[in-house]
Amino acid sequence: MSKNTTVYIDQLKHHVGQQVTLQGWLYNSRASGKIQFLILRDGTGLCQCIVEKGNVPDELFERIKHLGQESSLKVTGTVRADERSLGGHELAVTDAEVICPAEGYPITPKAHGVDFLMKHRHLHFRSQRQWCIGKVRHTVVDAIRRFFNDNGFVLIDTPIFTTVVGEDQTSLFEVDYFGRPLHLTQTGQLYLESAAMSFGRVYCFGPTFRAEKSKTRRHLTEFWMVEPEVAFIDLPGLLELAENFVTYIVRRVLADNRGELESLGADIALLERIQPPFYRLTYTETVEILKGDKTRDFLARELAELKSEKQQTESRIAELEQQQSGQIKQWQKDKIAAELIELRSALAELDTRIENNPTHAQLAAEFPWGKDLGGSDETIISRMHDKPVFVTHYPKEAKAFYMRTDRANDKVVENFDMLAPAGFGEIIGGSVREDDYERLLARIHAQGLDPGTHDWYLDLRKYGSVPHGGFGLGVERTLAWITGEKHIRQCIPFPRMMDKVYI
Ligand code: 4AD
Ligand code: MG
Repeated sequence: MSKNTTVYIDQLKHHVGQQVTLQGWLYNSRASGKIQFLILRDGTGLCQCIVEKGNVPDELFERIKHLGQESSLKVTGTVRADERSLGGHELAVTDAEVICPAEGYPITPKAHGVDFLMKHRHLHFRSQRQWCIGKVRHTVVDAIRRFFNDNGFVLIDTPIFTTVVGEDQTSLFEVDYFGRPLHLTQTGQLYLESAAMSFGRVYCFGPTFRAEKSKTRRHLTEFWMVEPEVAFIDLPGLLELAENFVTYIVRRVLADNRGELESLGADIALLERIQPPFYRLTYTETVEILKGDKTRDFLARELAELKSEKQQTESRIAELEQQQSGQIKQWQKDKIAAELIELRSALAELDTRIENNPTHAQLAAEFPWGKDLGGSDETIISRMHDKPVFVTHYPKEAKAFYMRTDRANDKVVENFDMLAPAGFGEIIGGSVREDDYERLLARIHAQGLDPGTHDWYLDLRKYGSVPHGGFGLGVERTLAWITGEKHIRQCIPFPRMMDKVYI
């Protein structure tokens, strides 16, 4: 092996005792007398590089000492295995080369508000938290493709410019397509149904657009959705497919990204419990739970817990504020400032939840059969369970036109939502499709849709119609649940929200 092998940090385990070169960015550094500790980041991980005076030329030692955060550099040295070190290895540096020094990097270890970080998303992307989420996202996307590819599904790319209304007319992004109004896709489903009649089992996976006027932590205007569609399937078959699919994704993340999950503070024990069967409730049973004692007691207990958490947070803030005013070193001040920002944002969230609790209790207690479940209702049901919950058989009026009417009870449809546990809410929506021509036409009329633009979709019910169905899983919501990230905007590289598009 040549003397100066350039390697990636995640390969250091194969080079213990050898001299290697790393190339990356200065994540952090600290000096202690004659030793400098550099934390280098190279896209595959972090590595502590130790520069000792005397081991490198004096002027290089000085240059490194004043190197700013995010400067790019190459460092050469001997790899040492060290259990206590970041990633289990460190580099005893013998040489270094600065590629491009950085001065005044705007994102410091001090804390910054969300707006600031979003405006600096192009740089914030380098943070450990974003890096961990990005790695998990990569696994989730790969697991999605692999699951369907390995189970006999054919990938069908559905169009982004669409002529049909897929979900509801109120959330369409219209585009001027050479003078003709088209809209950006809300779902690939309708096109996918035609493909299912050719290939049997198909899926599409791509960006999806919704002009939803929702500023919640669960809504983006551009998000990624994967949608399988299967010919000859019924509702129990769909639920089974969905629970196997979600279990597969979670297992893959647990296998490939344990380090990232730990670093993100995800609830690994909860993820390890994810396995079929998931809970199954009908909409009607769900409404009974919402209106009943179980929900009332649950929310009362939650309110008490929130209040005690608030008290603890407040006393920790007071403690830190006192430390901050004392005689302490700058790095300690920065650390306290960062923790304070975190705590204050946690406190604001606790306040909102305490304030919302009675409203949510009232909404649940007075829930009228027939209404779609709201965000707070989903959250309640989802918090009560330690595994995902299927809610099936929603009222027909609350749901999309294409869902199959339950022949045993024509007030409801054969659909389901999958609610992720621990309060994360809906991650999947799906249904059996109406396969009867007349019934489907009636639903199109009833929802005020234009039968003219849906004539090709109706054709599928004319020529060899079969029972079929599918579902859609939102990548960012799934990722928020798995990583424990509170806001879905952190789960997509460059988020687009109703009120904000930063860069
Ligand atoms: O429940 P939805 O609207 O279902 C459909 O679009 C069906 N056509 C799918 C199908 O049957 N083929 O959306 C499916 C999922 C939701 O459960 C959620 O995870 C995600 O897409 N989703 C959103 N994610 C982020 N921001 C939004 N505004 C979202 N709207 C839906
Ligand atoms: Mg839905």
